[in-house]
Amino acid sequence: MIVKDKHFFNDYIKVWDNGAVKDAPFITLGLEAVLTDYYGNLLDAPPPFAVKTDEQILDLGCGWGRVLKPVRSITRNTVGLDISQQMLIAAKNHCNYHHLPTPLVGGDGTSLPFKDNTFDTVYSLLVLQHLSKDNGKKVIKEIHRVLKPGGAAYIRVPSRFAPENLLMSFLQIISINVFRYKDPIRMRFYRIGEIKKICNSLFSDVEITAHEFRPPWNFHTPWTWHYIIIPRRYHKRLRAISDAIEKKANTTMPWLKHFAVTLMIKAVK
Ligand SMILES: C[S@@+](CC[C@H](N)C(=O)[O-])C[C@H]1O[C@@H](n2cnc3c(N)ncnc32)[C@H](O)[C@@H]1O
Repeated sequence: MIVKDKHFFNDYIKVWDNGAVKDAPFITLGLEAVLTDYYGNLLDAPPPFAVKTDEQILDLGCGWGRVLKPVRSITRNTVGLDISQQMLIAAKNHCNYHHLPTPLVGGDGTSLPFKDNTFDTVYSLLVLQHLSKDNGKKVIKEIHRVLKPGGAAYIRVPSRFAPENLLMSFLQIISINVFRYKDPIRMRFYRIGEIKKICNSLFSDVEITAHEFRPPWNFHTPWTWHYIIIPRRYHKRLRAISDAIEKKANTTMPWLKHFAVTLMIKAVK
């Protein structure tokens, strides 16, 4: 990992380690973990991509095993990798609790401890957003390296122009520049153009789909962790509206993709 400040790396790991011990679902998902009327049960949801039983699969940044466990229940050949030892302990407990023991590896996504052409599928959800753009590029290059030819990567990143993300960027700017608060896991947002630029130079086929057109309620700053603007009774209705916009964005109105909260990159080697 490229680290400019010598204390940064320890602080970065400490956030994930402490988060894993204190409240693993909350450090990984934030409010999405509890707003079940809107999101459904994300703590035990099927993977957001197709999984075949005979594939070799890597979960890069597996956290406490939220997605790893459902994937492992489909195929045995699943490996979880994470930079945080405490997250790996949580993932081990989670998978074992469900009688799905899973190989887990400590490592850094910017320098994967696997040989070239090892996996049919590599997925990385909610990880790149916490890394610098330079490190994010390194992770994508590493994913490409360890994928078999024809293998597919699924990478979820937050999009630059969603109202919620613009607001969060603004709050982060204030917290860094005014309050001098350096959040080691602060969010990075991606434009569709920059994703294409990185991925098109590596992969043979790149498809970006847009997800979540929700109103701004999920701010990850120290002051707003628990803050929800929209009353819960409207969440189901808002979900239906979000799903309708999402459908249009991914079919007839692709310009809407820019305003999604998250983008899913499917990149085939
Ligand atoms: C927000 S959590 C997401 C966990 C999981 N992917 C999920 O969706 O539930 C981010 C995870 O990425 C891990 N992580 C962060 N930087 C990493 C890196 N450079 N290499 C590997 N894992 C990393 C963190 O330790 C943490 O477990």
